[in-house]
Amino acid sequence: SRSISLAVIPGDGIGPEVVAQGLKVLSAVLPQDVKLETEEYDLGAKRWHATGETLPDAEMERIRQHDAILLGAIGDPSVPSGTLERGLLLKLRFAFDHFVNLRPSKLFPNTTSPLAGDPDIDFVVVREGTEGPYVGNGGSIRKGTPQEVANEVSVNTAFGVERVVRDAFARAQARPRKKLTLVHKNNVLVYAGHLWKDTFDRVGQEFPEVSTDYLHVDAATIFLVTDPARFDVIVTDNLFGDIITDLAAAVSGGIGLAASGNINPSRAFPSMFEPVHGSAPDIAGTGKADPTATVLSAALLLRHLGYEAEAERVDAAVTADLAERSGAVRTTDEIGDALAVRVAS
Ligand code: IPM
Ligand code: MN
Repeated sequence: SRSISLAVIPGDGIGPEVVAQGLKVLSAVLPQDVKLETEEYDLGAKRWHATGETLPDAEMERIRQHDAILLGAIGDPSVPSGTLERGLLLKLRFAFDHFVNLRPSKLFPNTTSPLAGDPDIDFVVVREGTEGPYVGNGGSIRKGTPQEVANEVSVNTAFGVERVVRDAFARAQARPRKKLTLVHKNNVLVYAGHLWKDTFDRVGQEFPEVSTDYLHVDAATIFLVTDPARFDVIVTDNLFGDIITDLAAAVSGGIGLAASGNINPSRAFPSMFEPVHGSAPDIAGTGKADPTATVLSAALLLRHLGYEAEAERVDAAVTADLAERSGAVRTTDEIGDALAVRVAS
C-alpha cells in the first residue's frame, strides 16, 4: 500500500497552529490506503534559545529521508534577525536544492484584495530559489567606520538560470494561456540581466507554443497592481521573486491565502511546502491565524507527490469555503475543521 512520509516543522508563532490544520486536511483528503506518516522536528526560536542550535547536520540527514516537508513559519523578534532565516529556512532550501520556488496567485471569492472583482487573476511566479543575492556571497571592509564598504554579490550561474527558466517554460506550456514573462532589471544589472535574457530567449525556442514577454521588475510592480490579469507564469530571480510575490499576495486575497512550494522537481531531495506568511507572533495563540495558506501549500505538496485529484479537492474546498464565508469570524481550528469536512465528502 502507498504511504507518504512527511517531515513536519511547525516552527514559531502561528506556525504550529496553521500546520495542525494543514495536517488535518491532508489526513482527511488522502484515501484510506495511503498511510500518512509524520515526524515532527523541533526547530525554530525555542530550540535556538534552549540549545543555540538552528539545524544540526544529524537532523538534516533525518529530514532528507522523508518524501516532503511541511513547514509552518520561522522567526521570532527575540532571535537576532537572519539567524533562523539563514541557519534554518535558507539552509533547507539550499541543501535540498529547491531551485523552483513556486508561488501561485489566484483571486479567490470574497477576499479582501484592493482589486477584488477582477475574476482573471490567476498566475504563478516561479522564483529561483538557490542563487542570487541569497547565497551569502559578500562581506564588508572597514566595518563600523564611515568608510565601510558592504558587498552582497548576486550569484547567477548558466546552470542555475537555465534549469529554472526551463521549468517555467514547461509550466507555461502546461497551462491554457501558455504565456511566460521574464522579470529582471537588465537595463541596470547587465551581467546577470543578460544571462537571464539570453537563456530565456534560447530555451524559449524549444517551446514555440509559449508566448513570451519581458518586463523590468519596476514596471512589473505597476502591472501587478493595475493589470494583474495579464500574467500567466512569471519567472524571476530569488530576490525579485521574494518581493513581487508579497505584492502578488497582497493583490490576490492577502497573505493569509498565499501558498508556496520550495521544489526540487527531480525528487532527489524532499521538497518543502510552506505558507508565504511569517510567524506573526502578535496573534500567536489567539486563534486568529488563517490556516488557508498552509492548507493550499498542502495541496501543492499533494500535487508534487502525484496526488493530483486530492490536490484539486483541497483547492476546491478552499474556493467553496471562501465563497461561503459570511461575516462571522471563525478560529484557526474552525476553518481547518470546515476544510477537512469539505475534502472528505
Ligand atoms: C520568504 C521569506 C524568506 C525569503 C525569508 C524569511 C528568508 O521572506 O519565504 O519569502 O526571503 O525567502
Ligand atoms: Mn518573502
